Amino acid sequence: MKKIQKALITGATSGLGLALAKLMSQKGIQLILVGRDQAKLTTVAQELTVKDTILADLSTQIGIDTVAQVIEKEKPDCIINNAGFGHYSVYEETPYSKWNEMISVNLLAPSQLSWQALKTWKNESIRGTLVNVASVLAMIPMPYSAPYSATKSYILSMSEALQMEVKGSGINVLAFCPGQLETPFRTGASSGALPSHERALPIVQTAKALWHQIQTLKPLVVYNWRYQLLVWFVHCLPRQLANKLIAKSIKKELAQVLFHRR
Ligand SMILES: NC(=O)c1ccc[n+]([C@@H]2O[C@H](COP(=O)([O-])OP(=O)(O)OC[C@H]3O[C@@H](n4cnc5c(N)ncnc54)[C@H](OP(=O)(O)O)[C@@H]3O)[C@@H](O)[C@H]2O)c1
Repeated sequence: MKKIQKALITGATSGLGLALAKLMSQKGIQLILVGRDQAKLTTVAQELTVKDTILADLSTQIGIDTVAQVIEKEKPDCIINNAGFGHYSVYEETPYSKWNEMISVNLLAPSQLSWQALKTWKNESIRGTLVNVASVLAMIPMPYSAPYSATKSYILSMSEALQMEVKGSGINVLAFCPGQLETPFRTGASSGALPSHERALPIVQTAKALWHQIQTLKPLVVYNWRYQLLVWFVHCLPRQLANKLIAKSIKKELAQVLFHRR
């Protein structure tokens, strides 16, 4: 088990990032928390033992560069790329700027910050741990969330490939793929139309599962067992049949958001 001294967490002002920050703070780990909302960052920093907060909007290149520079300077030995958001809608009926924003936060930011982490750790001989928060949807193409699934697939694939590259170096690259969480994510993704899923995973337990993964250095965790079963089932089916079933189940659930509003 590696002892972590200093961790940088993106998206630390809400949901999973915040729950993990609380847990790591209790373990005495120095925290560098990244958020785009100064008021929320200040509230979290007052509650936890935080070394630094970084105000950065990860939908912008300036925001991503700001965090990369902090990684280079502060050399945290654990980096958690957690910030991300979803948007349930019809692809071509949504302004392309929304997808650009999503690609930046969910894909370009973790991609560049992973690069910066590995470069810094290699130069400084640090045995760091990089965690990329993907999603179960990285393994299941989701209609009306097409770019979201695609960004998460990129992150998952990149993390697994990088883990193969760094194996044996003391550096670890982990991917965490949770199912629906009890966070504001779903309400945000549906522009306020949907509450948190009734069987959403409790956030404290999910943060503990992620912490356990960091401790055990398991390269890939799909959380929880229900979603492990789902992924297994989907991958057992011929792809076309699996996609048919996914489309059917999703249409029912999102109909109220996407179609009844028109
Ligand atoms: N919730 C789920 O069902 C679910 C399932 C699978 C995977 N995930 C993934 O888990 C991660 C955490 O999500 P969550 O459920 O904890 O959602 P959440 O509660 O909405 O938290 C998302 C975090 O990302 C931050 N963020 C969003 N856009 C940003 C931007 N432009 N710049 C900087 N930070 C930004 C948010 O900041 P603000 O507080 O300022 O909004 C917030 O701190 C995400 O990567 C998500 O894709 C979530």
